[in-house]
Amino acid sequence: MASRTDARPTTEPLESLAQRFAATRRLSLDLVATLSDADASAQSMPDASPAKWHLAHTTWFFETFILRDHLPGYRPFDDRYAYLFNSYYEAEGPRHARPQRGLLTRPSLADICIWRAHVDTAVQTALPDLPPAAHILIELGIQHEQQHQELLLTDLKHLFAQNPLGPAVWKAETAIASEVAQFSAMKWIEGKAGIVSIGHGGDGFAFDCEGPRHDALLPPHVLASRPVSNGEWQQFIADGGYHTPSLWLSDGWAWVQGENIDAPAYWDGDRYFTLAGWRAIDPAAPVTHISFYEADAFASWAGARLPTEFEWEAAAATLDPAAGQQLDTAGPVQPAAFPDDAGLQQMFGSVWEWTGSAYRPYPGFRAAPGAVGEYNGKFMSGQFVLRGGSCATPRGHLRPAYRNFFYPHQRWQFTGVRLAKDF
Ligand SMILES: [Fe+2]
Repeated sequence: MASRTDARPTTEPLESLAQRFAATRRLSLDLVATLSDADASAQSMPDASPAKWHLAHTTWFFETFILRDHLPGYRPFDDRYAYLFNSYYEAEGPRHARPQRGLLTRPSLADICIWRAHVDTAVQTALPDLPPAAHILIELGIQHEQQHQELLLTDLKHLFAQNPLGPAVWKAETAIASEVAQFSAMKWIEGKAGIVSIGHGGDGFAFDCEGPRHDALLPPHVLASRPVSNGEWQQFIADGGYHTPSLWLSDGWAWVQGENIDAPAYWDGDRYFTLAGWRAIDPAAPVTHISFYEADAFASWAGARLPTEFEWEAAAATLDPAAGQQLDTAGPVQPAAFPDDAGLQQMFGSVWEWTGSAYRPYPGFRAAPGAVGEYNGKFMSGQFVLRGGSCATPRGHLRPAYRNFFYPHQRWQFTGVRLAKDF
């Protein structure tokens, strides 16, 4: 761990770290509280994982990188679990194939919960005597589990959407309604231009890919005051947006045609699937579950473009990353619209915003040695950066410098788009 991932607030007491560890572990269990063992074991596609697998893999992360590596004499709870629940760490040896995770009907959800409790107790008991290097890894493990909480929600949504019964993960009548019937008119707000500092700077935690901090040159530009709404997306559809090749990147047009795409994921006419089951499309809410290709085509249709990740970060630098619609407790999260006020709306939370920036290393980036160095750096090929978090991102997880990344065709995350224009 020589990377920027190793930053932990040096002023934070260990009791606070222990409390955040406990709260994070508890939220994961809350997210699966309504699930049956079958719900938690099924896998709907290779990109998604069973809920049970997320619970187990995050536990493997703590057991491996903290207890095994830093607690002398610790014996793994079950020697076979490392093969089942290592995700992609080549340095940790061979592993069960990702597309086959849904075949792991054993260990049961209950067995995984027993393992979780065992590891939780071991980490909490050992924590005061662990070296600072292990405390840093506990922080990384918390941040890692928060990422998996968001994936757990989006993977569950994808799984439940495959069922013709349209089951709800959570029954909720009012939890996901917008507070306004119509989004305010989109306004254009001048962004920072010239040389700006980009990337994580301070003492707090950041993933390695968020640094080193460096200068970027921004052209004169404007950013939309809010994300694109479902109502605006319906106009794009009505105007033949999905059938107009001149709006699309070549790869995007091939994807639209090959996959027969004519609407965001989970849309069916005037309704869409949510974690609370099928609902009428909310025209005011930010559009979500769109691919990079769709975001880019919409921007072309609107006479705009995607912002770069640097334009986005410069605009977000003075905003509160803990504000907005983010995950606080288990429930049927869904992006919504809120009353307008001046400036940029919903930069943090609600929907991840596709940028036009490739997910590549910043100048001077070096991946850390060893297994943990595989966390981000090896994925810097063929993916695009998303910014700002979503309604499924645990509150407290985000920063202005935070970089998420997905392949341009992927759209099962809560992905949306904010437009930009040259100015
Ligand atoms: Fe992971």
